[in-house]
Amino acid sequence: MQRKGPTIKTDRLHARFADLFGPQPDVCVRAPGRVNLIGEHTDYNDGFVLPIAMSQALRVAASRRDDRRLRVHTAAFDQAVELDLEDLGPPGEPKWANYVKGVAALLLAEGIDLPGADLLIDSEVPVGGGVSSSAALEVGVANALLVLADRRLDPVALALLCRRAEHEYAGSPCGIMDQFICVLAEEGHALLLDCRSQSFDQIPMNLPGTALVVMDTQVKHEIGASEYPVRQRQCRDGLAAIQSADPAVQSLRDVTSETLGRFVDRMDPVVVRRCCHVVTEIERTVAAADALRAGDADAFGRLMISSHASLRDEYEVSCAELDALVAIVCSVNGVHGARMTGGGFGGCAIALVDAGAVDALSQAVKRDYDTRHDAPALVYTTTPSAGAEAWADS
Ligand code: GLA
Repeated sequence: MQRKGPTIKTDRLHARFADLFGPQPDVCVRAPGRVNLIGEHTDYNDGFVLPIAMSQALRVAASRRDDRRLRVHTAAFDQAVELDLEDLGPPGEPKWANYVKGVAALLLAEGIDLPGADLLIDSEVPVGGGVSSSAALEVGVANALLVLADRRLDPVALALLCRRAEHEYAGSPCGIMDQFICVLAEEGHALLLDCRSQSFDQIPMNLPGTALVVMDTQVKHEIGASEYPVRQRQCRDGLAAIQSADPAVQSLRDVTSETLGRFVDRMDPVVVRRCCHVVTEIERTVAAADALRAGDADAFGRLMISSHASLRDEYEVSCAELDALVAIVCSVNGVHGARMTGGGFGGCAIALVDAGAVDALSQAVKRDYDTRHDAPALVYTTTPSAGAEAWADS
């Protein structure tokens, strides 16, 4: 995980660190946000996902302390907490500190002898924006603490530890996608992750002349408190009904759009629709990976559009703002496809567009979306970046 040399500007981070804590940091970490290109609500069903790490990232600057205290400052809320490594205590307030606490507690539980540390966190990944600011925080802090402790963790073990921190300290029952992409991403590639075997394939983002545009509705979501756990339960209910007919089925991954029909009379109609989304989304994700390998932006875009329709109509995790954005941008010339990304209920949509059509897309959003909604959509491009990297700063 420790790679050579910063790939980002860290001047502002350094200046702030010096103001708060005195000398230069011993280590800096960059941990990216993510957008999922396709494969939504499939990770906790043993399916496939196809995310990229964004060029927008969270940064941590950190220095070793001689005592057992963690002093942590976040620029996002301009808040600080002080934690005691001898007694980290249960999750509490402020909520952002629970991610730090969770990661530190689980690293200690792994037998890693963490030193005290001063940490400054600064981020350009919008919080609650559906682009995985929380995984960036977990992975960023974990990397900083590991470098200070002069220890390494296998990337998959690190991703799983961060996911556990999210479950146990932030109360969010997320799947494995966000932490895996944050740790494993390669610049210029999307990650086809098999969430059953946890094996993965780095696929070059081979769509020349296109750009990826992120459109943030600014509608905040919090997956633990949302319908997310309800969807997980509905998937489990669907699986149980299928297993009562075919015990060989281990997860919705083992069902196809052809075989699903055999089980529908055993299920509640709402559960049928939830399962229908998962099963078809897994198929779309595999097809999208093939389209990416073939450099076929049109095919990829069509799959994004079907994915959005399925998330909107079958899985019912979209919202009016996301639907409006997707409809508006899909009518712009040069847009191959668009969809909501992440857990849903707010957050971001993404579009795959010809590079020359980005301005027309922005204008269409200003004209047809911003004038009709309380908050304007924040529109920006992103590129597939590397996963978390840490470098000693002296
Ligand atoms: C959230 C979770 C992920 C995944 C997505 C939906 O972002 O953190 O694990 O389940 O929702 O695809």
